[in-house]
Amino acid sequence: MRKPVIAGNWKMYKLLGDAVSTAVSLKSLVANANHCEVIIAPVFTALKSVADRTEGSNIRVAAQNCAAEPNFGAHTGEVSAAMVKDAGCSDVILGHSERRQFYGDTDETVNKKTKAAIAVGLRAIVCVGEMLSEREAGSAENIVKSQLLNGLEGLTVADTERIIIAYEPVWAIGTGKTATPEQAQEMHAFIRKTLSEIHGESVASGIRILYGGSVKPDNVGALMEQPDIDGALVGGACLDAESFAKIVNYK
Ligand code: PGA
Repeated sequence: MRKPVIAGNWKMYKLLGDAVSTAVSLKSLVANANHCEVIIAPVFTALKSVADRTEGSNIRVAAQNCAAEPNFGAHTGEVSAAMVKDAGCSDVILGHSERRQFYGDTDETVNKKTKAAIAVGLRAIVCVGEMLSEREAGSAENIVKSQLLNGLEGLTVADTERIIIAYEPVWAIGTGKTATPEQAQEMHAFIRKTLSEIHGESVASGIRILYGGSVKPDNVGALMEQPDIDGALVGGACLDAESFAKIVNYK
């Protein structure tokens, strides 16, 4: 059985005070959510405070990125996987489309970051997804397949226990245009098939695949009914604790 995961990607929002107060409000709102794992991903500067204030609760904390370089070194502006772990995180989001589009992430850097994260005991939430033009050209599956093959290249079966995939069609992110549950299910099934080609069916059937792209309290239920949708990666609708809690408590 795959335990659902509801993750909130705070992107570059919230100063420290707001980050902590959102996390604290969320604690009681999701305290009874035993049906799923709850993850929030604040900005780097808020990770430690949010992790401290949510310690002992059922909220896990994730970073939104980490360095590809695993070791200490002269890498100005970078934050390593070990530092993310040290700040109290259990997870890290990698290869988000905004990072791929605007900050130079490639399948190759996503692969290095994923390995760096797993090596220190973090879980990697690896994002994949096609652009609108790619979907319209009929190449959505090929794009997602190559993101998976290259992004997860060289991972062992044991490594896959530390992987969560997030399918986020770029055309659905922040646009209010959610993929229909059927469109999302179709791609999730394709992702699982691809994972099974790499690591075999029993591994593939255990990997959680989250959907992301304009998930809201009123559409999460229908998405979660799909057999291969194991959770959601939420952007806009996660910034407000009550709205995010409604998504967590979709059941
Ligand atoms: P959105 O963002 O929910 O605002 O579409 C999702 C994401 O970018 O992870």
